[in-house]
Amino acid sequence: MPKNLGGSFYATTPIFYVNDAPHIGHAYTEVAADVLTRWHRQRGENAFLLTGTDEHGEKVLRTAAANKVEPQAWVDQLVHDAWLPMLNTLDVDNQDFIRTTEPRHERNVQRFLQLVHDNGFIYRGEFVGKYCVGCEEYKTEGDLVEGTGEFAGQDVCAIHSKPVENLNETNYFFKLSEFEQPLLDFYAANPNFIQPDSARNEVVSFVRRGLEDLSISRSKEKFDWGVDIPWDDTHITYVWFDALLNYITAIGFGEDDAESREKFEQYWPASVHVVGKDILRFHAVIWPAMLMAAGLELPKQIFGHGWLLVGGEKMSKSKLTGIAPNQITDIFGSDAFRYYFMKAIAFGSDGSFSWEDLTARYTSELANGFGNLASRSLAMIQRYFDGVIPSAGFYNEDDLEIQKIAGDAAVAADAAIEAVAIHEAIAQVWTLVDALNNYITVQEPWVLAKDEAKRDRLATVLYTCAEGLRVLAVLLAPVIPKATGKLWAALASGSLGELADQSLVEVANWGQLPAGSSIGELEPLFPRIEQDEK
Ligand code: ME8
Ligand code: MG
Repeated sequence: MPKNLGGSFYATTPIFYVNDAPHIGHAYTEVAADVLTRWHRQRGENAFLLTGTDEHGEKVLRTAAANKVEPQAWVDQLVHDAWLPMLNTLDVDNQDFIRTTEPRHERNVQRFLQLVHDNGFIYRGEFVGKYCVGCEEYKTEGDLVEGTGEFAGQDVCAIHSKPVENLNETNYFFKLSEFEQPLLDFYAANPNFIQPDSARNEVVSFVRRGLEDLSISRSKEKFDWGVDIPWDDTHITYVWFDALLNYITAIGFGEDDAESREKFEQYWPASVHVVGKDILRFHAVIWPAMLMAAGLELPKQIFGHGWLLVGGEKMSKSKLTGIAPNQITDIFGSDAFRYYFMKAIAFGSDGSFSWEDLTARYTSELANGFGNLASRSLAMIQRYFDGVIPSAGFYNEDDLEIQKIAGDAAVAADAAIEAVAIHEAIAQVWTLVDALNNYITVQEPWVLAKDEAKRDRLATVLYTCAEGLRVLAVLLAPVIPKATGKLWAALASGSLGELADQSLVEVANWGQLPAGSSIGELEPLFPRIEQDEK
């Protein structure tokens, strides 16, 4: 079923600004990228997830100044107190965490700049225009709207609702305009490069309207929190030009030692850059043009996911509408967080978070659906077979139907992951949860148990449940690693080894759990939530 066995998979998240602590919007991207990466690893691929922090630029510098600390001290503290702990809170299994203030990043940003300069794509010129520090982005008139309240009568950034800066300085420019046609050609030749389709269409029509050269430096007279331009130390690098390069500096770009070269060779081009649609153009226009200018390969895909909304607007740090991830995980746990956001929102579309919806799904889908299936199946094996997995006899149509649903779910879920439709992959796996719950209701093992003559049938039914749970543990491990780990420990680790070593490719081959092996005690997977905790 799956392709690329044993190959490499490299996924990234955006590197986030450390002007404030993370909210569930950042957590959402982290979880999505982690689920994809864990899935590919479970397929047997060499899977690598990169995340990190974007620490330079005026926005971070101003926040540090407003808090009366040096920028380096500010970012160090916030990374350690908030951004790294978020990964723990969400159970994210990242292979690296890059910070743009690290020497391994800074020196290779300079090498990249020098390369692109030597290739003739950078020149010195006059910049006259507008800049939004909140966006860290140059703005045109069309990006601005009329201000309200304290900014009435002024033009403000449509996203941040704050006035923009008027810049007039000598800067270095990147010849972005030269890549207009090469980019359009690349999009046409690689229809999956930008996904979903709505994102792709948006970018294509943006580039068709024409690209202007991009200012990629700022004079140090204005501020100097960034990477020096290598041939002119009176300028620092534009924060986005610096930040985008994290995707290659983290895997060894620019370094000369054998290990770095091998790593770069192995993981580049990236399989997917997972980003929010707010930063799609940077990733789908500027970044590929930068890579073309350096003569490097382009990533295989940019996926622009939707926004978590609050009152119909994007949840944001600057508008103080953020909910901290641990407000949710403290009550429901990391698995529920991961499941809920991946299942309830079609990946690629916007969605609203609600405590009611989360609570309802936790109870009906996780606790009563999956959790209860696991606990009652194992309890019956305990009760009727002294905790020893019985041997299946003759499989009737109902049993074979479960096997077919398991096989179909595995294939369909894998195809959905291939299409980055995470919600759809989970829905496919859930067909097996629902089918098994229904199977138990119909087979009534507690009735079979009363009749010694039906002992073989009871054994077959409970073996089918156990095998179904084995399949579910493997298929759901990327989404709910804690609960599936507990299930695996009780059901299969003694006979089949580590959950991480179970191949998704063969998951639905029936009969892997050895009859005669003992099950252990199952820790509660999704404990009841006391209403007043919320
Ligand atoms: O843009 N819903 O960093 P940033 C969903 N440093 N996702 C959201 C979200 C929401 N309401 N709010 C934030 C930057 N995100 C740059 C990136 S990459 C080379 C540099 C997530 O801190 C989403 O992934 O503003 C979005 O793209 C990202 O956070 C923006 O994070
Ligand atoms: Mg932002």
